[in-house]
Amino acid sequence: MSDFGRQIIDWYKENKRVLPWRSTQEPYRIWLSEIILQQTRVAQGLSYYERFVKEFPQVEDLANASEQEVLKLWQGLGYYSRARNLHFAAKQVVEDFGGVFPRDYKSIKSLKGVGDYTAAAIASFAFHLPHPVVDGNVYRLLSRYFNDDTPIDTTQGKKQFQAYADELMLTDEIADFNQAMMEMGAIVCTPKNPSCETCPLQNSCSALKEGSQLELPIKAKK
Ligand code: ADE
Repeated sequence: MSDFGRQIIDWYKENKRVLPWRSTQEPYRIWLSEIILQQTRVAQGLSYYERFVKEFPQVEDLANASEQEVLKLWQGLGYYSRARNLHFAAKQVVEDFGGVFPRDYKSIKSLKGVGDYTAAAIASFAFHLPHPVVDGNVYRLLSRYFNDDTPIDTTQGKKQFQAYADELMLTDEIADFNQAMMEMGAIVCTPKNPSCETCPLQNSCSALKEGSQLELPIKAKK
């Protein structure tokens, strides 16, 4: 039995950044934060998140806004299709789900702009459903932990790393487990200068043992 989950959750509780979307269980706010953070750094996304929540406190408020209002509030974040999808999905919640944010993985994923990663984040953070998040941070963390050079941008790689995450997740603490995986990737298991000397997984990380951490993860396409 691996202590992976226990170790990263204990580390997370001691070291996590206090972020507003981590102290809410409201699916609307979690969804909003995840869409903003898809291609945006936390430091930049924070003020946008606060402004969206203030301007559109409920999903209905966002659905009832004009596209122009939404795009104006999004200005500066780039990737404007995210804002258009956000607006469209708010209308889906109102029209297809009676204004109540859907509670199951498949329905969550039916919202425009919500893929596997975002659906897992919402399902786990808001509803404690056992879906591990697998994003760039997690690919890096797991490829190093298992010293696995399967390219992450291939069908086989995606399957392999999803399988690792499915195996390792602690279902009773899925929200903290997922936040911990992302936070480890963002703060300790970073691309260029990983902090292996303070890493809670240093005794079981296969890449650290082999000295291969800077070579992982592997991508097939450069
Ligand atoms: N990036 C994407 N989702 C995040 C989250 N929930 N916390 C911090 N950074 C993130």
